[in-house]
Amino acid sequence: MERSKMMLIMAAMAFALVVMAPNVDAKRFIVGSNMGWTTNVNYTIWAQDLHFYNGDWLFFVYDRNQMNVLEVNKTDYESCNSDHPLHNWTTGAGRDVVPLNVTRHYYFISGKGFCYGGMKLAVRVENPPPPPVASPVKSSSPSSIYRGQLVLPAVLAIGALWDAFVRVL
Ligand SMILES: *[C@@H]1O[C@H](CO)[C@@H](O)[C@H](O)[C@H]1NC(C)=O
Ligand SMILES: *[C@@H]1O[C@H](CO)[C@@H](O)[C@H](O)[C@H]1NC(C)=O
Ligand SMILES: *[C@@H]1O[C@H](CO)[C@@H](O)[C@H](O)[C@H]1NC(C)=O
Ligand SMILES: *[C@@H]1O[C@H](CO)[C@@H](O)[C@H](O)[C@H]1NC(C)=O
Repeated sequence: MERSKMMLIMAAMAFALVVMAPNVDAKRFIVGSNMGWTTNVNYTIWAQDLHFYNGDWLFFVYDRNQMNVLEVNKTDYESCNSDHPLHNWTTGAGRDVVPLNVTRHYYFISGKGFCYGGMKLAVRVENPPPPPVASPVKSSSPSSIYRGQLVLPAVLAIGALWDAFVRVL
């Protein structure tokens, strides 16, 4: 009985570690940091030293009565054209969260004329870097197998957890 309990705890810990590990590094960026999404901020300069990884989030904080958050393509980003956004992320609260869940360029502008004043943001979303602990598996592209490698341990951990549960009962 004691041994089963110990196993249950260990399995639960292994499960938590394995399942949570990929999200530990996910970041939520407040666009413009303490300035927020507003006029008189150069978002090219704000973004230039940051790295955005697949799984991160952008958080737009702004005056909901004035600005909005529209995702557009490159052409419309450059010309500040808000007539055919790819995605309208505006919820109406002045607090909009955008998941950066595809490895590509994202372009955001505020409509209502504010884009011309500089309210435009381009970010390049990259694949997350490989885990800091060296992997024993040799591969030419470690980052691409990173996520896949986590699946099998997760399945094993769930199995161990279930086993332990059955034993305790
Ligand atoms: C962006 O969309 C506009 C209008 O739909 C289109 O004319 C333009 O070619 C598109 N640009 C890119 C880079 O896809
Ligand atoms: C974006 O969505 C908001 C909330 O639904 C809406 O009020 C607003 O008119 C939309 N803006 C555009 C440009 O589609
Ligand atoms: C990315 O997130 C958006 C918004 O939540 C969702 O509609 C889309 O399906 C997601 N794409 C992927 C590849 O997960
Ligand atoms: C932001 O700064 C960059 C680099 O200095 C400059 O090229 C760009 O024109 C500026 N953007 C705005 C909207 O002022």
